[in-house]
Amino acid sequence: MDRFLVRGLLGDSEILVGESLDNLARYLPEKNVFLLTDENVDRLYGSRLPDFPRMVMPVGEGSKTLDTAREIYARLVELAADRSWFLAGVGGGVVCDVAGFAASTFVRGIRFGFVATTLLAQVDASVGGKNGVNFSGYKNLVGTFNQPSFVICDPKVLLTLPEAERTSGLAEVVKHAAIADFSLFRFLEENAASARGLEPGAIRRMVLDSVRIKSAVVSADEREAGERKKLNFGHTLGHALEKVTGKSHGEAVSAGMAAAAGLSVRLGLLSQEDADRLTNLLSALGLPLSLPADPVAVADALVRDKKRTGDSLDFVLLSGLGKAVVRPVPLSGLLAEL
Ligand SMILES: NC(=O)c1ccc[n+]([C@@H]2O[C@H](COP(=O)([O-])OP(=O)(O)OC[C@H]3O[C@@H](n4cnc5c(N)ncnc54)[C@H](O)[C@@H]3O)[C@@H](O)[C@H]2O)c1
Ligand SMILES: [Zn+2]
Repeated sequence: MDRFLVRGLLGDSEILVGESLDNLARYLPEKNVFLLTDENVDRLYGSRLPDFPRMVMPVGEGSKTLDTAREIYARLVELAADRSWFLAGVGGGVVCDVAGFAASTFVRGIRFGFVATTLLAQVDASVGGKNGVNFSGYKNLVGTFNQPSFVICDPKVLLTLPEAERTSGLAEVVKHAAIADFSLFRFLEENAASARGLEPGAIRRMVLDSVRIKSAVVSADEREAGERKKLNFGHTLGHALEKVTGKSHGEAVSAGMAAAAGLSVRLGLLSQEDADRLTNLLSALGLPLSLPADPVAVADALVRDKKRTGDSLDFVLLSGLGKAVVRPVPLSGLLAEL
């Protein structure tokens, strides 16, 4: 097992890469623990969880709501929980986001930790201290910044992930490599089949490097002033494409990264050869390079993007493989890449 310490403004977080779900109890207090999981994870792994009061939420983004948080508060009140309680979220990014939010707000904050059971949660959602719920059609509109005490990343639980959930996580790993780590990029090029097959060695490298890259970016910039924007690589267009096409987050981000690389070439920042290496890697990992979408609808979704300033958008471009820069780009320039 590898332990990685993430230092946050509000406390440290220990990421346990290679630890088993079966050892969760070792990281929890002996009593006063509440568990949150979702229906899929409970069906697959519920019998291996320690014996504490448990809430099983419905699966998916639709349950990332204040209503779910309210239900958690209500259960905690029933249990007469106070500040000494601990909330453990066992699941993907949805469970982790809701668990972190409910724990951070109940009695102004109780301690919490995660078992991250999707590749996306292991490489992205569990690091950085953001949590929250969707509200009134807006993603993550209500939330806090707060670090979990620990995150267990068990590689074995990823083997039950459906294909679509694997590719979502892989897209974020490529993003980390493209913006910050050429050596991880080369590793992915050379080991695309093992990465796609989620083989243990490949998972370990992808999770460890992603955690290291994301936590370095985040600790340089805890409240998203500059550096952290780089983590939006592929996401500005990606979010718009996700909304318009209804495709998965990973597929949309992949198409967003391919378009951003194209634009970087057009602006003279990136060589065509490097852009081709990125698109070849995405294809080798089973990710799409474009998604058919109505440009008017995409433009509309982009304009609604909360990161917009004036007529242009702050956009993450590549100035090399492993190097990102943030530049304002006019909307028309973006749409030309689709
Ligand atoms: N807080 C952050 O910094 C951050 C970063 C990125 C994403 N997110 C959030 O994460 C969420 C997406 O996370 P996600 O992709 O993990 O989605 P998810 O939590 O919905 O999980 C995806 C699906 O996989 C199932 N699942 C989970 N673990 C499984 C396993 N081991 N085997 C089989 N099935 C399993 C889930 O039940 C669900 O159906 C979004 O809401 C996004 O906003 C947060
Ligand atoms: Zn993402």
